[in-house]
Amino acid sequence: MARIQIEGGVPLEGSVQISGAKNAVLPILMASLLSKQPCRLKNVPHLKDVTTTIELLAQMGAVVGLADQFTIELVADSVSHQEAPYELVKTMRASILVLGPLVARFGRAKVSLPGGCAIGARPVDQHLKGLEALGASVRVESGYIQATADRLKGAKIVLDTATVTGTENLMMAAVLAEGETLIENAAQEPEVVDLANCLISMGAEISGAGSNCIRIQGQAELAGYDYSVLADRIEAGTFLVAAAMTGGHVQARGAVPDTLDSVLQKLEQSGADISTGEHWIELNMHGRRPKAVDVSTAPFPGFPTDMQAQFTALNAIADGTGIVRENVFENRFMHVLELQRLGADMRLEGNTVIIRGVPKLTGAPLMATDLRASASLVLAGLVASDSTIIDRVYHIDRGYENIEEKLGQLGARIKRLPAG
Ligand code: EPZ
Repeated sequence: MARIQIEGGVPLEGSVQISGAKNAVLPILMASLLSKQPCRLKNVPHLKDVTTTIELLAQMGAVVGLADQFTIELVADSVSHQEAPYELVKTMRASILVLGPLVARFGRAKVSLPGGCAIGARPVDQHLKGLEALGASVRVESGYIQATADRLKGAKIVLDTATVTGTENLMMAAVLAEGETLIENAAQEPEVVDLANCLISMGAEISGAGSNCIRIQGQAELAGYDYSVLADRIEAGTFLVAAAMTGGHVQARGAVPDTLDSVLQKLEQSGADISTGEHWIELNMHGRRPKAVDVSTAPFPGFPTDMQAQFTALNAIADGTGIVRENVFENRFMHVLELQRLGADMRLEGNTVIIRGVPKLTGAPLMATDLRASASLVLAGLVASDSTIIDRVYHIDRGYENIEEKLGQLGARIKRLPAG
């Protein structure tokens, strides 16, 4: 398996281009299933999960092609196979997002249950409950979700938890349902808003996206889309934390500040100087060591769980003691064990980790376990003395486009090693 080697100790300096958001591009690609007309998506990041999604849609019968390096064109007018097989779903849980569009447009779907992953059980009960509320008959058999409906009917859905992909699946089901749908306790993440904006460009009638109550008036059919994906706030946040940890000065080009309010506030608390424009964020640490910050994850607009591992790494070398609470997923601290191998002083207590910052970390061989945990190991490697080698970096490639190239452009001594 490919590995990444880092020689730490260099303050990052310069400007980096932020790619399109993984967690927006996936549902928007699935939304092409809602129309028989051509769809065109720009600002698409080169990620393993995007490739997997293209394979999944093509396997169903959609015609998918690359118009250029960052633009995908797809037509789903001849989708003959409304299935998402286990072989694909097990590599990418987000495949569950074909469920809503398939039932809405074709009246049937057979999708493998995603199952759990490293960070938690990841149930999809809210997705299924919502589809049943819209009139679908749903059964789970031999590891597959089988859903059918003549035509979905609008309904009032109250989610037990503000699930991001659950909100997205149900929004994509409701846009072709008969009548009005209300999704209450909806997720408010920027990626949900990006999907809603894309659906509206297809002719959907949606109001309230970005709030906890989304109202949808179903349509008989939708046009295709010609849309550009929102910048990835988690990639941007990850690079800004890298700059803060290394005492550097970095501009994240393309980043949208108001998708990162809670993260920028924590970075300022850690002693960073932040300046922003409509489509850029700049962080200057002036060579200082970050101060420890307390973090408690929550659904948007709260502090994002996808930035928890990165701030755990920042606290590892910060001045003071930081307390990090993970309230969204039940097992999202795998990076703690690996950071301890670099000399971090951390103590896990249930869903909380108490971190006493140390002045320096020492490089060591590490193992990546899940996407954001792997990113936090890269960040720690950037400040550790000597060499850090991270194995199983395929986890990183799922969510970060060319991470070693982008960090290298900022001065990091980082390279990808052939499979060990
Ligand atoms: C999305 O996952 C993101 N993935 C995750 O990003 C992100 O961490 C997560 O939202 C939270 O922000 C994509 O958008 C593809 P949830 P999702 O449903 O939708 C519980 C990354 O690193 N829940 O909002 O699967 C669930 O157990 C990935 O990019 C139910 O109980 O997350 C969890 O505790 C990791 N029943 C909480 O809700 C359900 O039916 C939030 O999960 C659904 C979820």
